[in-house]
Amino acid sequence: MAAATMEKVVNLCKRRGFVFPGSEIYGGLGSSLDYGPLGVELKRNVKDAWWRAVVTGRDDVVGIDAALIMHPAVWEASGHLAGFTDPLVDCRSCKQRFRADDLQGTTCPACGGELTEARQFNLMFKTFVGPMEDTAHVAYLRPETAQGIFVNFRNVVETSRLKIPFGIAQIGKSFRNEITPGNFLFRTREFEQMELEFFVRPGDDDSWFEHWREERLRWYTDLGLSPERLRVRPHGADELAHYAKACCDVEYRFPFGWAELEGIANRTDFDLRRHAEHSGKDLSYFDDERRERFVPYVIEPSAGADRSTLAFLLDAYDEDQVEGEPRIVLRLHPKLAPYKAAVFPLLRKDGQPERARHIYDALRRHFPVDYDQAGSIGKRYRRQDEVGTPFGITVDHQTMQDGTVTLRDRDAMSQVRIAEDRVVEELRARIG
Ligand code: GAP
Repeated sequence: MAAATMEKVVNLCKRRGFVFPGSEIYGGLGSSLDYGPLGVELKRNVKDAWWRAVVTGRDDVVGIDAALIMHPAVWEASGHLAGFTDPLVDCRSCKQRFRADDLQGTTCPACGGELTEARQFNLMFKTFVGPMEDTAHVAYLRPETAQGIFVNFRNVVETSRLKIPFGIAQIGKSFRNEITPGNFLFRTREFEQMELEFFVRPGDDDSWFEHWREERLRWYTDLGLSPERLRVRPHGADELAHYAKACCDVEYRFPFGWAELEGIANRTDFDLRRHAEHSGKDLSYFDDERRERFVPYVIEPSAGADRSTLAFLLDAYDEDQVEGEPRIVLRLHPKLAPYKAAVFPLLRKDGQPERARHIYDALRRHFPVDYDQAGSIGKRYRRQDEVGTPFGITVDHQTMQDGTVTLRDRDAMSQVRIAEDRVVEELRARIG
């Protein structure tokens, strides 16, 4: 298996329409990135797989979709206004700015100049609500989706029949004015999170923490990430966020080293208590079986949609040889692949394109599929391999006689003949 490099994957993403530099015709904007036609499908498949595993596939979790701009009091209560900061230093000579905790020495890594003392820089993006640009109208773009869940805790309890333990999940954009974004999709200023807040009885929190740690790790391997490139790293006491009793990171071995894909935290009753204090509303829970009232503890698996998309791309990237020709192949899990299959007429004559088009139209009602009749069949297979399409359906001379097509498997490189009216069923079985 050929190891992926960031450069190879970034190039493939640009070349094949997965991810483009943001605002490219104007020279780009920092680390902003745009998903292209194939990238949007891949990322949507990642989010759908998460939603199925965490929400619709369970009977104890519901979803919400909260506003990105919330009341500024939310961020006071959550501690983000006071504490969501990174230490920032300026170079007195070249004026560049750096995150102090990224630096080894005390001189500027760009020019060797003298650095200022570190000061705390708040990572939240500020804006104004309405036409008045004054302090009374300041608001923030959310730096995490979690707070949208906590402020809706009461609404969800009152409108659903959920009993503790239960969870509320959300997928959506978050914004952080990162001092040092980079490594492509790994760290950007605008990104998407997939977060679950799972509310439990205090005392049951440790076992639910274990439960979610196992579940979340399994999710990545079920979708094909190499187990040897995944690990769970518990946080040391000095690393814990202000709200957490315990935390561990699911880490992936990226080409630039081991780094966090997802954090799983025991947030205790910190958030609900703080919001209760700041809003004056009762955010406790009444257990009507045990006739007791308590403020639930929260276990939070918090994953990044873009970061996991990057990990799935890197892990899937491979180079091999087919019939003496080099091939780039994305071995994406069929559930994640943007196209599940591609349909090809072997020749552009003898009625083959019409027959292939007919099969394509029928398949399209069931799966995202592509149609390609341009160039040699070998080239067309390679084009699909490079974007991770797991199956190829080829219409040839024999199809016109007996109604069978060849089904090619991207990874096994096997080709079998099956009846054209069995293709949907066969693909369904193979996608899983
Ligand atoms: N609610 C908890 C929370 O937000 P976090 O560890 O700060 O915790 C959770 O973020 C996940 O969000 C990270 O594991 C990562 O996948 C993703 N994430 C955070 N900052 C990011 C950034 N600047 N760019 C891309 N993804 C980011």
